[in-house]
Amino acid sequence: MNNIFQPDEHNLERAALAVKSGGLVAMPTETVYGLGANVYIAAAVARIFEAKQRPFFDPLISHIAETDFLKTYARTDERIMALARKFWPGPLTMVLKRSDNNAAIDLACSGLPNIAVRMPAHPVALDLIKKSGVPIVAPSANKFKSISPTTAQHVFDSLGDKVDMILDGGPCAVGVESTIIDVTGSNVVILRAGGTSKEDLEKFLNEKVLLSQGNPNQPSAPGQLLKHYAPNHPLRINAATRQSGEFFIGFGKIADCDLNLSPAGDLREAAANLFAFLRRADTAPGYTGLAMSPVPEHGLGLAINDRIRRASYKA
Ligand code: TXA
Ligand code: MG
Repeated sequence: MNNIFQPDEHNLERAALAVKSGGLVAMPTETVYGLGANVYIAAAVARIFEAKQRPFFDPLISHIAETDFLKTYARTDERIMALARKFWPGPLTMVLKRSDNNAAIDLACSGLPNIAVRMPAHPVALDLIKKSGVPIVAPSANKFKSISPTTAQHVFDSLGDKVDMILDGGPCAVGVESTIIDVTGSNVVILRAGGTSKEDLEKFLNEKVLLSQGNPNQPSAPGQLLKHYAPNHPLRINAATRQSGEFFIGFGKIADCDLNLSPAGDLREAAANLFAFLRRADTAPGYTGLAMSPVPEHGLGLAINDRIRRASYKA
């Protein structure tokens, strides 16, 4: 059965009806595809964890379509609203103090007093949220710990008919997940590097933004496990050249590579290609391992390096 649908008016109405009545709809966002459900229907949220084989201690991001909705959902202040106005819709998730005590949300928050919220910059996602009339919780639409999906076909390959509908919005423009910031304290703290750079946040806030002190065994964003985004083959990172049997993914001016994340050394282009290239490398016949060039540690490079370090982690 193929459950990939073009996001025309009719299919969007169907998808919204599915969300309202407790179904699972995979939707495109600018970062990665999300596996969406109605935040207020606990049984639907539970189906997300089941379909992904994801542990219940790992909370989900609520996706909203209007900044003002934030005020009914979480405690806000001037800094939070300014960040929302500047970076939404876009790849920024804010962890906020919950103010909606509706018990149905407990599961999405894994019982935490905080809630993660973002407004995605994709017309299909925004339209679906508006038509559904509720916040849509959506983790990346892939099996737990595996490579995140940046096309509708990736979602189908990973989750197949565990999803009621997959809306095809084309390849994701950003390609790595949103940056998650904790804005509940006096300093803004990045819990997960992602599609919004630390530099852009600091420039806008005119204050230093901290990186969470990653105790790898007790990640501050509970989903930030050491092994994540993992291909089936071993991945060697910061590789200068290919070793025998390896599929080599380059970055920048690398002559002898099988795929190049960005020949021009553009970190945005590299982020957009990252997950799709990891999948292609992992399924290419005849290789025993994957290797990747070093990627600079600034701008979107922070997010890329975070993902490939976890993808290369050997348990
Ligand atoms: O770009 C994205 O953020 C994508 C698209 C679909 O929006 N979503 C995504 O969701 O990456 P997911 O579930 O794969 O990652 C969400 C992360 C997890 O690491 C989770 O632990 C963290 O957000 N998180 C959610 N709620 C939290 C909370 N209340 N406090 C701290 N971390 C939270
Ligand atoms: Mg994920």
